[in-house]
Amino acid sequence: MTITPVPRIGVVVVAAGSGTRLGGGAPKAFVGIDGSSILRHALTGVFAAPPAQVVIVAPAGREGDALSEALAAAGERRDLVSVVAGGETRQASVAAGLAALWADVEVVLVHDAARALTPAEVFERVVAAIDAGATGAIPVLPVIDTVKRVVGDEIVAAVDRAELAAAQTPQGFRRDVLDVAYAAARRDFTDDAALVAEAGHAVVAVPGHPLSFKITTAADLDRARHLITAAVPRAPAHLEHGPVVPRVGVGTDVHAFGGDGTLWLAGLEWPGETPLSGHSDGDAVAHAIVDALLSAAGLGDIGTHFGTDHPEYAGAHADVFLGRTVALLGEAGWRVGNVSVQVQAQRPRFSARRAEAERVLSATLGGAPVTVSATTTDGLGFAGRAEGVSAFAVALVVPA
Ligand code: CTP
Ligand code: MG
Repeated sequence: MTITPVPRIGVVVVAAGSGTRLGGGAPKAFVGIDGSSILRHALTGVFAAPPAQVVIVAPAGREGDALSEALAAAGERRDLVSVVAGGETRQASVAAGLAALWADVEVVLVHDAARALTPAEVFERVVAAIDAGATGAIPVLPVIDTVKRVVGDEIVAAVDRAELAAAQTPQGFRRDVLDVAYAAARRDFTDDAALVAEAGHAVVAVPGHPLSFKITTAADLDRARHLITAAVPRAPAHLEHGPVVPRVGVGTDVHAFGGDGTLWLAGLEWPGETPLSGHSDGDAVAHAIVDALLSAAGLGDIGTHFGTDHPEYAGAHADVFLGRTVALLGEAGWRVGNVSVQVQAQRPRFSARRAEAERVLSATLGGAPVTVSATTTDGLGFAGRAEGVSAFAVALVVPA
């Protein structure tokens, strides 16, 4: 008989909400995405991460259903699972989960079951940040939309997007700090990081993941369904054999200037610059990266997955294309090693925003390094005449 060592990590999966906004006819955690529930998918990610005690916080009266889901997802980690009943608020539910952690647990990750598609690598990044000395660490994604402060229907201020980030879960903390902060909390906080910050502790950010979006509304559930069930063409037979080694791919894309709106390029919005035309936002940099990644993995090209027969990609930005591409790669057993992309363009001038573009593109690829370079063409060709831009990307993928 093998005896599982007591882990030093504990994961509290909060799943006790009612899912009012989803309106799925059952508590949200038990609503199906495909053949499996939101909770089951969330736990699949949890159990793919490093071994941890897993406490599931279920709606009162549904503990047995939650346990069945957990045992099915846990595999050989069944003895690390327990279920407790939640409270009126998310915060009360987290507190109930914390109370069930074993004494040996030193690092606690609090995770929303509603972020059902969160990949295991996000758990690893959060734990790594705590192990490197942080008191608390949360996954974040850059805010890509332009943000305004609005009162009624009046725009009162523009908000500098560079200072903003969207918080996700799992949020990780040193167990001693989280216990004390929860015991001291006198009001409701929007997330665990805010509660810990109120107790006077610094919380650091690590890259989040586009697949970690929270299923809140019916549209979110549709998106999750689409991501899970879209048919993934298998790699052609001649690519399936041989040793599994890293593989490279190349991709190019060209878009002409034209159309309405603002320019989107390299995952960034460029106010005041002429837009590029295309079925989506015309972001040639993002599209070249998609082609390079799909080519490296032997999964066809951008037209295979994102053609004009997919109305859901009309007007979509880099985060949607690259997030979906990462998911396709993951389903086929690949993850992104790194990406290098070069833009040929007369405008916009990249130098001032190159680091920002690299950060945004890297975040949409789950944290894999992305480097961006840009050049003009000495006035030659369509790029030199400022009729459009071209981008050329090289990507490395490695077995997941
Ligand atoms: N949650 C919980 N206990 C509560 C409220 C929420 O455990 N009393 C959990 C939810 O199950 C979810 C996470 O906290 O996994 C994030 O909450 P949210 O997305 O708001 O889920 P619901 O509260 O279920 O949804 P709604 O607000 O639409 O009712
Ligand atoms: Mg809620």
